[in-house]
Amino acid sequence: MFKKYLSYLLPIKIYQKPSQISKNLEVTWNNGQLVLDSENTNYSYGSLQRILRKGLKYIGYKRIQGFENVLVLGVAAGSVIKTLVDEVKFKGKITGVEIDEEVVKLANTYFKLNEIPNLELVVEDAFEFVLKTKKTYDLIIIDIFQDTKMPSFLFEEHFINKVNSKLKVNGFILFNTMVLGFKDRRRNATYKSHFNENYSVRMYPKIEVHNELFTIKKLA
Ligand SMILES: C[S@@+](CC[C@H](N)C(=O)[O-])C[C@H]1O[C@@H](n2cnc3c(N)ncnc32)[C@H](O)[C@@H]1O
Repeated sequence: MFKKYLSYLLPIKIYQKPSQISKNLEVTWNNGQLVLDSENTNYSYGSLQRILRKGLKYIGYKRIQGFENVLVLGVAAGSVIKTLVDEVKFKGKITGVEIDEEVVKLANTYFKLNEIPNLELVVEDAFEFVLKTKKTYDLIIIDIFQDTKMPSFLFEEHFINKVNSKLKVNGFILFNTMVLGFKDRRRNATYKSHFNENYSVRMYPKIEVHNELFTIKKLA
């Protein structure tokens, strides 16, 4: 409790571990809230939670309440899952896919992710999971970072088509990207061009400075 209140004055790190995928994992009290960070960016809770909350608002909480199945690719400490359960009041099934077992341990120990009853957590590479799964989803949230880097498979046609094939008609993709310069802006413009007239693509730039969100609705 003391650390929580002291953290309004200065951040207090309570756990730190080197990570192959994220360089470094840190659990910190910051402004009265427990957050998970990698070496150079916020992973869960903090600004990341605000960014994805905006995305969920763009799609609409009422609409999401009517969904049955949500897939979250890139779970970290699970702040978007917490938003879905506590704020959106989503009662359907959530499947979370996270590549890093160490992150899952931290999520369970410090953020009680394992206490969310409608969550099934899969420790696997999201790329492999999407290739294999036979299920379809109403909402697919893609939030995959390795520290500040986004793996290139996310922008490749093969992965994009596979994700699209797992999306139900009238379903949505919410894709969180980081834009640090011209190259990333061009990459995102190319990403948009992969979707044909069966999809409605919206791009929301400058969410918390460097993030650009996509919402993609499958029309037919
Ligand atoms: C920004 S965090 C996710 C935050 C989370 N969506 C939330 O709401 O709190 C990015 C996560 O993607 C995970 N990740 C990176 N590459 C991945 C991959 N290929 N498959 C699945 N997860 C991956 C990282 O380990 C990290 O936990």
